[in-house]
Order: sequence, then structure tokens, then C-alpha cells
Amino acid sequence: MSSNGERVFIDLEERSYDIVVGEGLLNVVASFDGLPSANAALIVSNSTVAPLYASALRSALHSRYPMIFEVLLPDGEEYKNWETLQLIFDALLSNACDRKTVLFALGGGVIGDMTGFAAASYMRGVPFVQVPTTLLAQVDSSVGGKTAINHPQGKNMIGAFYQPRLVVCDLATLDSLPLRELSAGLAEVIKYGPIADTNFMDWLESSMEALLARERSALAHAVRRSCEIKAWVVSQDEKETGLRAILNFGHTFGHAIEAGMGYGVWLHGEGVAAGMVMAAELSLRLGLVDAAFVERLTALIARAGLPTKGPVLDVTDNAGRYLELMRIDKKSEGGEIRFVLIDGPGKAVVRAAPDALVREVIDACCV
Ligand code: NAD
Ligand code: GLY
Repeated sequence: MSSNGERVFIDLEERSYDIVVGEGLLNVVASFDGLPSANAALIVSNSTVAPLYASALRSALHSRYPMIFEVLLPDGEEYKNWETLQLIFDALLSNACDRKTVLFALGGGVIGDMTGFAAASYMRGVPFVQVPTTLLAQVDSSVGGKTAINHPQGKNMIGAFYQPRLVVCDLATLDSLPLRELSAGLAEVIKYGPIADTNFMDWLESSMEALLARERSALAHAVRRSCEIKAWVVSQDEKETGLRAILNFGHTFGHAIEAGMGYGVWLHGEGVAAGMVMAAELSLRLGLVDAAFVERLTALIARAGLPTKGPVLDVTDNAGRYLELMRIDKKSEGGEIRFVLIDGPGKAVVRAAPDALVREVIDACCV
């Protein structure tokens, strides 16, 4: 790997950009080459990540931006809401930031999603850059331009499609990530296998120990390959009119878990992990995959240190509660839930399923 990192290109015509993947990129001026010049930059981060990495980022940005401001948001999925978003606008306005100001999202997916949404709306749109510091953000949320905040009734319900100008994934930042968060990121890595690339699933099976041990070459491959697959999907369907929905494998059940448990109780990746098992089980019951594949996927998820069973959200009618929450999913049409299902290894389809069958799956997959 070159000292300037490797680049994955996401082809979106005039909204195209690079995803740079490498080690020690954060404090290197060249990592941020090609960005528009401006009088000011605003680093958006949180109280956990900023003490670790904000000064390194500042040192790379100093020569490019005469003024660098910083706003720190409270840390946690439960703060991914309107009140916290307002803190970004407050910082921009109180520092008289103009419409050329570049926003830098330094943190995990929560920071990335909120910074992107703020960038999409401040003065009707200012440039922003993703500097993801969790595995989950490096392999998924920083790429593709989905930005959002949560609503108490539904996950990521308010947001916009708005592409960053650049994504800089510094693998060295993953050294400080808690193990539970590393595992949560592995859920989004694993998802790419069943939906798009069985060779990648084979590789994950043989590399899980190396990934959990944070071996740099294994992490580099996982991040790069995940970004390649995501870039390929997003470049064909930026606004999710069809194909892009496959990236939500496991998310219909997973989002219900996150909202039903209260945001922040189950990590996003944990909900996706249990949700992938449920979606695979539903695929099996619809005759799309065989039991061996479901067992294989479940074993891989367990080896990543992730849950393979969902929580009980309601002791009187658990399946009913899941169904109620899943109807608010963005893929629902006319109140009908549409699931991302595995239609043979490496291929996903999006379709509805009878409520009775979904209830059976939930009953079998929750503890
Ligand atoms: P997160 O942003 O909450 O980060 C997890 C925790 O790790 C936080 O406490 C954070 O402060 C901390 N952290 C971050 N980097 C660290 C580091 N290098 N060292 C130590 N601690 C660090 O969670 P996440 O898993 O990164 O992201 C989840 C969010 O991403 C969810 O809100 C989800 O909806 C969203 N998401 C969005 C997309 C998308 O396409 N936009 C895709 C997947 C997920
Ligand atoms: N994380 C799903 C998507 O970006 O479409």
C-alpha cells in the first residue's frame, strides 16, 4: 500500500469522488488533495473521537483553510436527532461560515450521517468530506451519500441523498475502537458476501481471526473490497430506485430492533447481524436458499462476535411489535413490508412476504 493510500473511485458523473484507504492518512496534506479551497472548514466530531484525532486532522488542513472551527456533538445514537443537528448550524452561523465552508465529519456513522445532512441543508448545500473512524463507517456509512437523523418512530427517517467530495479512511484509527464496535462494523462487512460476492464470503471465513486481531492487511482488504462493492452498487442506483436496496440486507429487522429497544441499546451493526439471520431464515422458508447457507452465514456472524438472535421487543406479541415497527421502513410500499432476501448465495432480491411466515421467522429467531 502506498503511503498516500489506495483509491476506490465512485462514479457518479459530476458527483464522483475517491475513497482513500490507507494507514496514517489523517495528518497528511496530500490525503485531502483536490478539495475546493475556502476561507473556513468546520470539523464536526464528538467528545470521544476529537481528543484522539482532531489535532492530526487539523494539521493536514491548516495549509488549505485559513480558519478551522470545530463543533463537538454528544456521543451516541440517541443523539442522532434534530436537537443535535442544530448544534452544527449554530456553530456554522456563529462563526459566520459562508457557503464555501467545507464540513469534515470526523467520527463514526452517527457523526457522518448528521454532518452530511447538515451539509446538504446549510445555505442549501455546502461541500463535505467524510473522515470515518469506525470500521462500520469506513465500509459503509461514509460512502454513497445517504445522510439522516432518526425519528422516535423510525430509524433514519429524515434525511437527504447528498454526496461527500472525498472519503478518507485511515485504518490506524481503528486501533482505538472498542472491540464491540469493531464487531458491529464486521456485520456490514459480512453483508456484502451474501448479497454480492461469495468469494468475499470465503475470504471472510478464512480471515475472521485476523480481522478481530486488527491485522492491518486484513482490515485493508475488508475496507477496500466493501467500498468497491458499495461503489459499484451506488454508481448504478444512487437514489435507491431499485438495486441499492440490496445494501439493506438485514436492516429491515435490524432497524426494528434499534427503534424497538431504544436507540443506542443495540448497536446498529448488532441489529443488522441478527437481522441478517432473520432475513436469511425468511429466504429459506420462501425456498430461495438452502439450510446449509443459512447455517454458514449464521456461523460467520457468530464468529465475528455478533448476536445471531433478535431481542424480544414485546412479551405479549413480539412478532406483532416487529411487524408494526417494520411497516415504517423506507422500503415499505402502501404499508406492505419489503424484505431484502437472499436468492441463492451472492444474489439478493427485494420482495414482500406473507405476515404469517414473517411471524414464524420472528418467533424462531428471538430470545
Ligand atoms: P457511532 O458513530 O455511534 O460510533 C460508534 C462509537 O465509537 C461511538 O461511541 C464513537 O464515538 C466511537 N468511536 C468512533 N471512532 C472511534 C475510534 N477510532 N476510536 C474509539 N472510539 C471511536 O456508530 P457507527 O457504528 O460508526 O455508525 C452507526 C450509524 O451509522 C447508525 O446511525 C447507522 O444508521 C448509520 N449508518 C449509515 C449508513 C449510510 O449509508 N449513511 C450506513 C450504515 C450505517
Ligand atoms: N447502507 C445502505 C446504503 O447506503 O444504501
